[in-house]
Amino acid sequence: VKVEVAAEKAKWLVEPGCVIIGTTGVYEKANAMTFSWQTPITSGIPCKILLVIHPDRYSYELLKRNGEIALNIPGERLVREVHLFGSVSGRERDKIAESGLLLERAKTISPPLMADCPANLECRLGEVIPAGQHDLLILEVVRALVETDVFDGSSIIPERFKTLHYLGGRKYGVLERSLAAL
Ligand SMILES: Cc1cc2nc3c(=O)[nH]c(=O)nc-3n(C[C@H](O)[C@H](O)[C@H](O)COP(=O)(O)O)c2cc1C
Repeated sequence: VKVEVAAEKAKWLVEPGCVIIGTTGVYEKANAMTFSWQTPITSGIPCKILLVIHPDRYSYELLKRNGEIALNIPGERLVREVHLFGSVSGRERDKIAESGLLLERAKTISPPLMADCPANLECRLGEVIPAGQHDLLILEVVRALVETDVFDGSSIIPERFKTLHYLGGRKYGVLERSLAAL
């Protein structure tokens, strides 16, 4: 049996890729924001990632200043911090200090990386496309890092990485199993 789903709820049927923590600003004064609307849009070089952002976000203001953002991919362990970064604005509070998470310097951009995230992408802002309520940001990945124990050389190992996927409200899913199509 299938039921009709209201248009405003339809997006929850396709949600989502893994959540990402975007760090902006500079190492000494950085901000963190959670994104679930993200997707890679090329399979070649350079790697490009599309983010969907609301113009009100403080992170957007910081990103416009230097055109740089780090994408940090958290595992299950950071669900509390992910929710904090996604529900409070850096205009009001120093979320990174409150979280107690450690930062490390990036090599190619000014925003720092989150040391507690198993993967980090150093990105530069390319094209910006207005799309109604939100803007579409096309990022170019300049450098990517991953913990050796959660990546097999071509894909993440979900059993170890345990990426988080947003289900709405305060609910998250965890990707924890891979499956081969035979
Ligand atoms: C799980 C989750 C995913 C989110 N994804 C997005 C997103 O893709 N784009 C967006 O503009 N806001 C998204 N948000 C909302 C922002 O993270 C939130 O408004 C945040 O407080 C902005 O922080 P800032 O003002 O410090 O930049 C998300 C929130 C949560 C909890």
